[in-house]
Amino acid sequence: MRPGRRRRAACVPQVTTDSQSPRVDPLEDLIVDAVWVEKGSEPGSRQLVRERRASSAPPPSASDDVLRVLHVAKRFGGVVALRDINLQLRRGETLGLVGDNASGKSTLLKIIAGFQRPDAGQLVLRGAPVDLRSVDHARSLGIDCVYQDLALIDELSAAENIFLGRERVHRGVPLLARRLMRALAREALDDLGVRVDSLDVAVGRLSGGQRQAIAVARCMRSAAQIVLLDEPIAAMGHKEATAMLTVLSRLRERAPISMIFVAHNYGHVLNFCDRVNLVQDGCIALDKPTSKTSIEELTSW
Ligand SMILES: Nc1ncnc2c1ncn2[C@@H]1O[C@H](COP(=O)(O)OP(=O)(O)OP(=O)(O)O)[C@@H](O)[C@H]1O
Ligand SMILES: [Mg+2]
Repeated sequence: MRPGRRRRAACVPQVTTDSQSPRVDPLEDLIVDAVWVEKGSEPGSRQLVRERRASSAPPPSASDDVLRVLHVAKRFGGVVALRDINLQLRRGETLGLVGDNASGKSTLLKIIAGFQRPDAGQLVLRGAPVDLRSVDHARSLGIDCVYQDLALIDELSAAENIFLGRERVHRGVPLLARRLMRALAREALDDLGVRVDSLDVAVGRLSGGQRQAIAVARCMRSAAQIVLLDEPIAAMGHKEATAMLTVLSRLRERAPISMIFVAHNYGHVLNFCDRVNLVQDGCIALDKPTSKTSIEELTSW
């Protein structure tokens, strides 16, 4: 634990009840979208309340939610990666996910991407409970992920990686449309503002930033409605990171894509995302619109 940090006693939030608040939807009781708020100046005077009820904004309806994560837990042997995660992602929303190293962000994204299965809890996709069996299953439901380790095949070229599993073939002939895929790959990378001189070189020989651009380009070509981005600009220079965020912004303007964006740079999160969730002790410890929080608040946790 960092010096000066206060450890919270328990992860399970004590949700306050408010008889004035309208019922939002039948799943609401399962959801603990809690946030700590200051109830006074004394240490220890923080209380957990529902962010939705603390906010003056009208409560979002269930139909706004494309994804809900309910009480998800995951452990690896003795390591508890996720204890009790409750999260919601709304249609067309970009949700920032922040937290210390090893707080479980990547594990959560891998569960939503169908790469790992939770030990407990439930995912609800567009209002229906879903048990994701695999990454392919998640993709068939419109969920795609840029993994933190990028999940590229080092021996293949940029174009081959971008179209892996979604190869284009010539109409009427079972032959790969290599020239078309190269042209589309070039267009996607140019769009992202990242220079890759040769599309034929194996991606294992490219830089970290170039590899990240290829992983993002692959995800962008997938037509997913839920895009999970696990530190997609961590290896990029300032110029390339800015170009990447611009392209992602254009993408979400064109279509009602919902994104979860994991980053350690709070400035990027506050600028790029609509809402931010902070993962701590295996739970979502803070859930706020980015317009109502600050770098100072996020770093104080
Ligand atoms: N496949 C695995 N086997 C064993 N332990 C794992 C595995 N994946 C994750 N963990 C452990 O789960 C915890 C959470 O890891 P995770 O990668 O989700 O954290 P993170 O928040 O993404 O961290 P970072 O910010 O460093 O990327 C860590 O303690 C990690 O060591
Ligand atoms: Mg991670």
